[in-house]
Amino acid sequence: MLEDNRSVLLAALVLAMFLLRKLLDFRRAAASVTNLPGFRTLFSDRFVWFPYRVDGISPGLQSEINLYRKYQDFEEAGWDIMAGVSVFPTSEVTLYLADPAVIKDVIGARARFPKPMGPYKVLLAFGPNLVASEGEEWKRQRRLVAPAFSEKNNKLVWDETVRIMHDLFDNVWGKEDTVVIDNITDLTVPITLLVIGVAGFGRRITWNEDAVAPPGHTITFKDALNVVSRNLFLQVLFPHWLLKWGTPSMRRFHASYTELGHYMQEMIDARRSAEVKEERHDLFSSLLDANEGLIDSGEKLSDIGLMGNVFIFMVAGYETSAHTLAYAFILLALYPDEQEKLYQAIKATLSDDRTPEYHEFSSFAYSMAVFNETLRLFPPVITIPKQSAEDASFTTTNAAGEKRTVPVPKGTYVTVHTPGLHNNPKYWADPDAFRPSRFLTDYPRDAFLPFSGGPRGCIGRGFTETESIAVLTVLISRYRVEVRDEPQFAGESFAQRRARLLRSKLSLTLFPERAPLVFKRR
Ligand code: HEM
Ligand SMILES: *[C@@H]1O[C@H](CO)[C@@H](O)[C@H](O)[C@H]1NC(C)=O
Ligand SMILES: *[C@@H]1O[C@H](CO)[C@@H](O)[C@H](O)[C@H]1NC(C)=O
Repeated sequence: MLEDNRSVLLAALVLAMFLLRKLLDFRRAAASVTNLPGFRTLFSDRFVWFPYRVDGISPGLQSEINLYRKYQDFEEAGWDIMAGVSVFPTSEVTLYLADPAVIKDVIGARARFPKPMGPYKVLLAFGPNLVASEGEEWKRQRRLVAPAFSEKNNKLVWDETVRIMHDLFDNVWGKEDTVVIDNITDLTVPITLLVIGVAGFGRRITWNEDAVAPPGHTITFKDALNVVSRNLFLQVLFPHWLLKWGTPSMRRFHASYTELGHYMQEMIDARRSAEVKEERHDLFSSLLDANEGLIDSGEKLSDIGLMGNVFIFMVAGYETSAHTLAYAFILLALYPDEQEKLYQAIKATLSDDRTPEYHEFSSFAYSMAVFNETLRLFPPVITIPKQSAEDASFTTTNAAGEKRTVPVPKGTYVTVHTPGLHNNPKYWADPDAFRPSRFLTDYPRDAFLPFSGGPRGCIGRGFTETESIAVLTVLISRYRVEVRDEPQFAGESFAQRRARLLRSKLSLTLFPERAPLVFKRR
């Protein structure tokens, strides 16, 4: 009896000591950033499997909440930098940034603010790649990959996107005057899939491709690409043996992933053994050529490394582009006046029904402004994590313009909070409004960072800008986009309608949950 009581007492004592130490650590962590206001929670936002916001428990910044709250948390905290302090996994501080000057400093200093590799490890499931690397390894990868995103690749993206849109109009939508799309992503996802197919992998796919797999394959390239790219999260979550023997959709994914690997290996072999190298500017061919040209074996990527990077182009580039286009169409449908201005601007260049050319790209500044304004409101990547490699300090301001300097101890997590930055009222007038024309005047460049920036900024920015401007320009020149009328929503206000259509969820990136739109031929 006595023995029992003693062990209970001992356990209680150990627990109390543990909690006391945690509490002291927590308070010390908060004090290390001069008790800057922000989140005080049990768990930090590095618990990606619990991305929800619960006061006192988790800030949930990886989720769509971050997008809906926009600048609000900063407003409540009072400063353009917030401190998140948590107890688990360790007492740690994360500084969230919505201050353009501070962000510029952080993203410009790759050595002082490297990426914490933890959140990116999952991406190594695809093989070694540019996104999931740091330091010398990152430098080597970037040097090798960068030349593939060339002017010639951009031209290919443009020409092929225009061709894909015309194929859609001629062979799928045909003579229909009104095309109903129940879920806008059902249109934008296939578009970006076809574009990455040809400009990423060098394989042209048509909308009405027949479904017979070529000899030696069980699945067509199109289906393999489609299944893999729509289920990449499976690869991230489960080991291969489990996928191979798992549920039917896991098995389908596994088979498609394996097949896509075979197609890529075939392309590598074919290009290696070709007598005369055809001049090609898709990302995969360029990467292959650049790699073959290297003699030094230390610099060279293995076939696995090549594939890892091509997969990462898919992960990084395909959802982000598809979802941004989806938001752009929803916004244009919700704001017909803005759509009309875009249409008039396009018509000023494309007065007859001719095909827009790549060299005219800069004439479509209004399309670009629509794209930018969409990215300001709905940046697909909502947080960009960094970590301080040495002691530093940030100086920021509050609404009254007062300054405050915050120490940044070595090891502090530093996260660019893109929605906070993009809706910071110090830089954006009426931040909630969809107003593309704000990008046609002198806009605050440092307060707009959908692609991050500095040496680790998005390498695919030109790719996606070219693709998106082509899609928007060609589609809006031919069709008017409207919100589909549904009887059950007849009585809703504009605000309700806007909220309904723009309701978002997070997969790898943010996407609109369900937005039924109608395309009417002009
Ligand atoms: C609307 C479309 C896109 C958006 C908003 C976007 C955004 C971003 C952002 C914010 C980063 C920095 C990520 C971080 O630091 O954690 C990034 C990096 C990257 N993006 Fe994009 N991206 C888009 C399209 C693309 C496309 C089309 C490709 C390729 C075809 C691509 C390839 C990459 C790669 C490889 C990186 C890593 C660069 C490095 O670490 O050196 N992205 N992107
Ligand atoms: C759109 O934003 C990009 C930066 O992402 C900038 O280079 C470009 O000039 C902007 N253009 C327009 C028309 O908004
Ligand atoms: C709309 O598309 C998204 C993304 O592809 C999907 O997750 C969602 O379930 C779809 N919604 C409906 C109602 O079909």
